[in-house]
Amino acid sequence: LNPSPSSHQMEGLSAANCRAKGGSPGFKVAILGAAGGIGQPLAMLMKMNPLVSVLHLYDVANSPGVTADISHMDTGAVVRGFLGPQQLEDALTGMDLVVIPAGVPRKPGMTRDDLFNINAGIVKTLCEGIAKCCPKAIVNIISNPVNSTVPIAAEVFKMAGTFDPRRLLGVTMLDVVRANTFVAEVLGLDPREVDVPVVGGHAGVTILPLLSQIKPPCSFTPAETEYLTSRIQNGGTEVVEAKAGAGSATLSMAYAAVKFADACLHGLRGDAAIIQCAFVSSQVTELPFFASKVRLGRSGVEEIFPLGPLNEYERTGLEKAKKELATSIQKGVGFVKK
Ligand code: NAD
Ligand code: LMR
Repeated sequence: LNPSPSSHQMEGLSAANCRAKGGSPGFKVAILGAAGGIGQPLAMLMKMNPLVSVLHLYDVANSPGVTADISHMDTGAVVRGFLGPQQLEDALTGMDLVVIPAGVPRKPGMTRDDLFNINAGIVKTLCEGIAKCCPKAIVNIISNPVNSTVPIAAEVFKMAGTFDPRRLLGVTMLDVVRANTFVAEVLGLDPREVDVPVVGGHAGVTILPLLSQIKPPCSFTPAETEYLTSRIQNGGTEVVEAKAGAGSATLSMAYAAVKFADACLHGLRGDAAIIQCAFVSSQVTELPFFASKVRLGRSGVEEIFPLGPLNEYERTGLEKAKKELATSIQKGVGFVKK
């Protein structure tokens, strides 16, 4: 581990340097919270991503073991581990993309907002490091409550004078992944063929699937709409209860996180028409942050799409979502300003 790498890791470091000199098209990615339930499978999947040339794994515990393990995979990315706050700056320097799944998960009976007291401070500290060491990086925030942690990150970056709204994205991809899966089940389709936009935020009623805009176009009975909306909004709770105290979604989240990070990297590479839902700084509604479809490019979020036509059920859902979102956003902003 840095700063005293073993001989094996020294070989890895020089390999990375050679690749950098050779003009590798790969990107440098850091995972903060890399030894956690999400962090470990996310690290494994990122190590398999051909767009990643360097992978930094940072955590306050257990990152040496995870790094040693992942580094034996015979894929292109060079892996380096970082342990504890004194190595945070090294972990972040030079990164193109930083993914943050650091923080505590829910137990049965808790809301995501119940995590605020612990996770707000973790995200704030990590974002202060980003502002100092890689202010141009794209930042993907997974740590809950996303509806508050993204505003926290924005305030930290504003205070540091580095805020670029195009580069800060709250990860709501798991809601889309769940929506595609549950809708495909109901319709008897292959989930890979289904695309459900999910807008709003990432908690309870703020998760608003737009079933009227599904691709391929399909219609639902009122009972199906009610069942699907409720199941998508409560997908996280379904996993928390099934895990019965052992945490929340980790494997489906790692899958969703890598799908989203991969989209960000394709955007950074300059690929066309990379469109995903994300919780971003937005003018789509009167709220300062909102999740909706965005187009990703070399600068991060290059276009935010309007919500499109909503039916009566979705319009009612939107009003409920905005009410809760406003409170959660304000709570995040207030945490940094106080
Ligand atoms: P976990 O407890 O298994 O892992 C969290 C990791 O964060 C641990 O390894 C821990 O050591 C590390 N950590 C704690 N403080 C840290 C710090 N200051 N710096 C760096 N690392 C730190 O939890 P998990 O299941 O991986 O979940 C992590 C977070 O992701 C939770 O807040 C959870 O609610 C959230 N989550 C979000 C989504 C989403 O859709 N956005 C989905 C699932 C989980
Ligand atoms: C999820 O949607 O699975 C995550 O936000 C974790 C949780 O607490 O539900």
